Amino acid sequence: MTQPLAAVVLCAGKGTRMKSEMAKVLHPLLGRPMAWHVLSRAFELGAQQVVAVVGHQGDAVKASLSALFPQLPLSFAVQAQQRGTGDAVASARGALTGFHGAVLILYGDVPLLTTETLKRLVSAYRAAKGPLAMISCRPPSPKGYGRVLRGPGHVVQGIVEEKDATPEQRLIPEVNAGIYCVDAKFLWGALEQLTPANAQGELYLTDIVALAAKQGEVTVVEAGHVETAGVNDRAELAERAEVLRQRVNARHMRAGVTLVHPASTFIDEGVEIGPDTLIGPNVALHDDCEIGSGVVIGQGAVLTHSMVGDGSEVKPYSVLEDAVVGVKCHVGPFARLRPGTRLDEGVHVGNFVETKKAHLRKGTKASHLSYLGDAEIGANCNIGAGTITCNYDGVNKHLTTLGDGVFIGSDTQLVAPVTVGDGAFVAAGSTIVEDVPKGALALSRAQQVNKEGWAERRKKVLDGMKQPK
Ligand code: UD1
Ligand code: CA
Repeated sequence: MTQPLAAVVLCAGKGTRMKSEMAKVLHPLLGRPMAWHVLSRAFELGAQQVVAVVGHQGDAVKASLSALFPQLPLSFAVQAQQRGTGDAVASARGALTGFHGAVLILYGDVPLLTTETLKRLVSAYRAAKGPLAMISCRPPSPKGYGRVLRGPGHVVQGIVEEKDATPEQRLIPEVNAGIYCVDAKFLWGALEQLTPANAQGELYLTDIVALAAKQGEVTVVEAGHVETAGVNDRAELAERAEVLRQRVNARHMRAGVTLVHPASTFIDEGVEIGPDTLIGPNVALHDDCEIGSGVVIGQGAVLTHSMVGDGSEVKPYSVLEDAVVGVKCHVGPFARLRPGTRLDEGVHVGNFVETKKAHLRKGTKASHLSYLGDAEIGANCNIGAGTITCNYDGVNKHLTTLGDGVFIGSDTQLVAPVTVGDGAFVAAGSTIVEDVPKGALALSRAQQVNKEGWAERRKKVLDGMKQPK
């Protein structure tokens, strides 16, 4: 039987260079806090317990992360003072009381590590004789990192931090990524032996590597420097986001989604898209959108926390937020579906139509220039151009209810609360303030008057008034 796995994720750092009121690990990458990406990897690897070590803005970090992993064994440890990475890991000890097995140590601000690389680390640890395996990399410049010290036979002897390194050691291109898999018992014992006798006066987690080297061979897994890169400022945040964005896009394309222009396609983590869906250029899909199969999302559309059913088309430059679009619908171009919009099968919502808390049932069409808010609209209705539900009386919002097969003529105002019965007609240009019975025609506009020959008479009058030049 393989040893159980736990993970400690260091999230206590202040992140001074972010110049932010918000904790660094909460800054979003593809719609999720930075630390979410790291914690997700730990859970994917099968960690039975994950401890996030928090400090700076600890309460906010706890609140945000516990809400994101409600069903999972995530706990928190507080590192009150930042006394170094060794001290940070030691503060997780209480949360792991009674745990025997391997502890994976991760940083909350190193969000690009892949599950594959971490699996390699854990396998290397399991195959090794010693108590510790670690990840190293070779960045273009090793500046700022701890260097991996190797002795005769390439055997790892320890890590030296840049600030403590000799000029010769600083030339070593192989650096410590800061990610380890360690035997729990060894770890807690080793942490007790750390002292702050170094250039930074900190308890260096890296010093456990030399202690492990004394007990048995330290196993090193090399990873690409892109994966192991951290986030220190907002420029790096954008660079990491770009890598993640390309990964997510590639994942969708491999799953059968066409991205017409991946370089301008922004798909958040957690978005689901069915096969044979086509996403145009400059589209953004945020916040757990669920897009069906055979859907077309046109250029420039922005969808947030919305669902689009199979075979529907969202035409260019439409904006959807908390909207549910059924199957075989047509939306846009330039439609705005606001929260609480629900379109059943085959509904058409055309250009410059805004909906909010509106349910349009099967086959209904609102093709042009309308505002439909707080509305229950039946099946197979035709909503003419320029129809407006007047839902707000200055204090409260009121409901407009339309039955099935209703025809609303163009430029109608429906002053809510108001109900129009099944199959009723409302003449164009009407202001409807009273309920319309089923099957009736409602007209509320002045009678038309035609004055024969009026234009000719007017011309004569005006000509008579003309001033001589
Ligand atoms: C650390 C390593 C270094 C490695 C580098 C890789 C040590 C002593 N050095 O250096 O060998 O090359 O990572 O990026 O470990 N943190 C806490 N509490 C603390 C201190 C840090 O939670 O008291 C967290 C930080 O928020 C961060 C992580 O630990 O997520 C690493 O800390 P940081 O100060 O960035 O480590 P480095 O000095 O870069
Ligand atoms: Ca440091």
